[in-house]
Amino acid sequence: MEKINAAITGVGGYVPEYIMDNEELSKLSDTNDEWITTRIGVKTRHVLKGEEQGTSVMAIKAVEELLFKTNTRPEEVDLLICATVTPDMIFPATANIVSHATGLVNAFSFDLMGACSGFLFALQTGATYIETGKCKKVIIVGADKMTSLLDYDDRTTSPIFGDGAGAVMLEPCSKEYGVQDSILRTSGAGEQYLNIKSSGSRCPVTKETIDKKWNRIYQDGQVVYKAAVSNMTSTTREIMERNNIEVGDLKYLIPHQANKRIIDAVASRLNIPEVKCMVNVTKYGNTTAGTLPLCLWDYEQKLRAGDKVIFTTFGGGFTWGSLYLIWAYNGREMKKRD
Ligand code: UT7
Repeated sequence: MEKINAAITGVGGYVPEYIMDNEELSKLSDTNDEWITTRIGVKTRHVLKGEEQGTSVMAIKAVEELLFKTNTRPEEVDLLICATVTPDMIFPATANIVSHATGLVNAFSFDLMGACSGFLFALQTGATYIETGKCKKVIIVGADKMTSLLDYDDRTTSPIFGDGAGAVMLEPCSKEYGVQDSILRTSGAGEQYLNIKSSGSRCPVTKETIDKKWNRIYQDGQVVYKAAVSNMTSTTREIMERNNIEVGDLKYLIPHQANKRIIDAVASRLNIPEVKCMVNVTKYGNTTAGTLPLCLWDYEQKLRAGDKVIFTTFGGGFTWGSLYLIWAYNGREMKKRD
C-alpha cells in the first residue's frame, strides 16, 4: 500500500487591527525603540483590544479565511487542533469554541499546549492522523493573545510579545509532498527559566499571587536565548543530515519568531543565508503558537510546489524541534480573500 503523506493545502491568518509601536510601548515600560530594535528586532506588535476578547476571536478569523481559501465546507473537516498557551478558559478547550463558531459540526477538536513549539507539535500530531488514514481534513491553528500575560512593569518581557493566529489545512497526498520528517523534543528541566507560576493547580490565582505578579510571564532571557540557539540549530542540522538536504536544496528555514538575533544566530551556524529565512518578528513580535503559521501566511505567495522547507522552534517547557516538509502548491494560484 502506498504511504499517505500529509500536505499543507492552504493557510489562513489573522492579526488584530490595533498596532502598538515601540514608541507607545516605551510609555508603558521603561524601554526605548533603539534597545528593542537592536536586541530583539521588533518594531511593532498587534494587540487584541476590547472586553471579553480571547484567543478564539483571532483563531476563528484565521480558520474562516482558511475555509474560504481552500473551498472547504465546514462539515468536511474531521479534526481541529488549537495550539495555544492562552486559551479563552482552562476549559472548554478553545479548539471546541473555534470549531463551534466555524461550523465544524463533524470534527472533534482539542487544545495542545507546547508553548512556542505548540504549532509544530500540533502539525506533526495532525499529520499523523492523516498518515494513518483516520482523517482526511485536519485544521491546525496556532493562536495566542500573549498581551494578556504581560506585565508592562517588566521591561525584559513586555517588548517581545504580540497577539495573532495562523491556521493550516492538512490533507492526504502522495509521498513527493507534505510532512517528510520531524524531530520533536521536550525537557521539563526548563520550567524554572520560563513560566507563569500562578496559572494552574499548583499555585492557583489569589489576590496575593496577583500582587506578586506570579500570574505574568517570568523569563530568564539569557538562559532561554542560549538554549534556543543551540537546540534549534542542533535539531535542524540533524534533520538536514538524515534527509540529505544541503543548504542549496532548501527554499526556506521557517524559524520561531522570538528574537531576530536568535534567528540570525541559528541561520549563521547552519550557513543558511538570510534570504532563505522567513522573518516577520519585526512587525508581529513573538505570537508564541502563532509565529510559524503567520510566517506561512506572509510568505505563501513565494512558495511553489516542491519547495523544501524546514520549520524550527524553541519555547517554554522547554520544548523544541524541527520539521521537514515539501510544499504542495503554488502560493500565487491560491484564492485570495478581499
Ligand atoms: O519564545 C519563547 C522563547 N523566548 C526567547 O527565545 C527569548 C530569549 N531571550 C531573549 O530574546 C533575550 O535574552 C532578551 C530579549 C529577553 C533580552 O536581551 P539580552 O540581550 O539578553 O539582554 P539582557 O537581559 O542581557 O540585558 C542587557 C541590558 C541590562 O542592563 P545592564 O544590566 O547591562 O545595565 C538590562 O537591564 O539591557 C537591559 N534591558 C533593557 N533596556 C532597555 C533589559 N530589557 C530592556 C529593555 N529596554 N526592554
